[in-house]
Amino acid sequence: MITLILGLQFGDEGKGKIVDYLSGSTDAVIKFNGGSNAGHTVVSDEGKFKFHLVPSGALRSKEVILGNGMTIDPFLLEEEIRDLEKVNKKLNLKISSIAHVVTPMHRYLDKAEEEIRGAMKIGTTFQGIGPTYEDKYARTGLRMADLADPELVSDKIELIYAMKRTMLEKSEFASPSARKEMASRLVASGKNLRKFLSDTEVYLNELASQGKNLLFEGSHGSMLDVDFGTYPYVTSSNTTSGALTTGSGLSLRKVDRIIGVVKSYMSRVGAGPFPTEITGEKADRLRTLGSEYGTTTGRPRRVGWLDLVLLRYTLMISDVNSIALTRLDTLGNFEEIKVGYSYKVDGKETKQLPRNEGDLQKAEVNYRSFKPWGFLSDARISQFIKDGKDSLPDELKEFINFISSELGKEIDILSFGDTRNKTMFCSKLATA
Ligand code: IMP
Repeated sequence: MITLILGLQFGDEGKGKIVDYLSGSTDAVIKFNGGSNAGHTVVSDEGKFKFHLVPSGALRSKEVILGNGMTIDPFLLEEEIRDLEKVNKKLNLKISSIAHVVTPMHRYLDKAEEEIRGAMKIGTTFQGIGPTYEDKYARTGLRMADLADPELVSDKIELIYAMKRTMLEKSEFASPSARKEMASRLVASGKNLRKFLSDTEVYLNELASQGKNLLFEGSHGSMLDVDFGTYPYVTSSNTTSGALTTGSGLSLRKVDRIIGVVKSYMSRVGAGPFPTEITGEKADRLRTLGSEYGTTTGRPRRVGWLDLVLLRYTLMISDVNSIALTRLDTLGNFEEIKVGYSYKVDGKETKQLPRNEGDLQKAEVNYRSFKPWGFLSDARISQFIKDGKDSLPDELKEFINFISSELGKEIDILSFGDTRNKTMFCSKLATA
């Protein structure tokens, strides 16, 4: 069985928990896009973990693979490997030798670019991801295998410096000795990581042909996709299902199921349109109840009601065939719970996502309201999980059924809290 898990909103949908749950039965968990801009918190029997580069499934899976589509900060990766090895003693890691390398210079450039953008700034995570992908597509980037060749590392750093001199001139990297020092640190880190490097695209195809259980963990939310998201307020990689193929070398044709993770409300970090956003006291309450603070940046997340217009679009783009609805415990006590099902743009109702920035900014949302289903104690949640979907409070069933009928898809997984056991599987597809 080959599974892909994706977030269908703006990120932080609760993918980590679903991946962690499913990874107990997988042979390998694979990441194929993004870098340390992604952050996931996993609460497990062993404690609470925050990961950026290694997948959330790394705690339990026999094997972890970082695919070619990723941008990897080698210093950070060394740290994460050290932490992980303390918990997962059998950790077997493979890193694509053609994944791109994030250097301290890229981190600097991320900040410098945001400053230049001024009022048009994106609100990036400052992890150097955008500038690293820029260099990949400019064909000046450093790849993991390059770190074995000190001369090549120096040459590429000089090339990147020459290309981006105007931004780097006032930085520490203006000094040739600082660039030299950075190059030797990168080479040293490359030496430490060399034993993990592999042609992961070939290896993955072998695993697939042996019928292994593979779990692909998508980073970020689908609306942050550089093509299909709310451009330019997006990340610099593709975050929808097609990225699996280009970011790992395995054909999407080999994937058996695509699980889309949807939070029962929305959150967004950074700038950009957010039609169902709420502010004020209600937003503060939701942010606190849902612990909506960035894993990577610690920034308070913007929050809002569930938006089905966005979801219809991301479901279509990624051809999702199974939905996991998360954080159902968070909303229960709100006196009125809302779900946006269509937009009004220039006086006309539409269920389709407007694709130009201006229309999305001015879209008004049509909502349906739901009654609260109340506080769900741990004991009640455990009982629901035992007794199945029919035992849920009527108000919650109404909320779930509305979402399902508007999207034309069954909700296969219901998730009630952070821990692994607070998850209800409602169909064969979800537990296969
Ligand atoms: P970058 O990926 O650091 O360049 O940031 C671009 C945009 O994507 C910013 O709005 C970030 O807040 C957002 N972003 C990137 N990764 C994540 C994530 O894992 N969760 C939520 N937002 C993210």
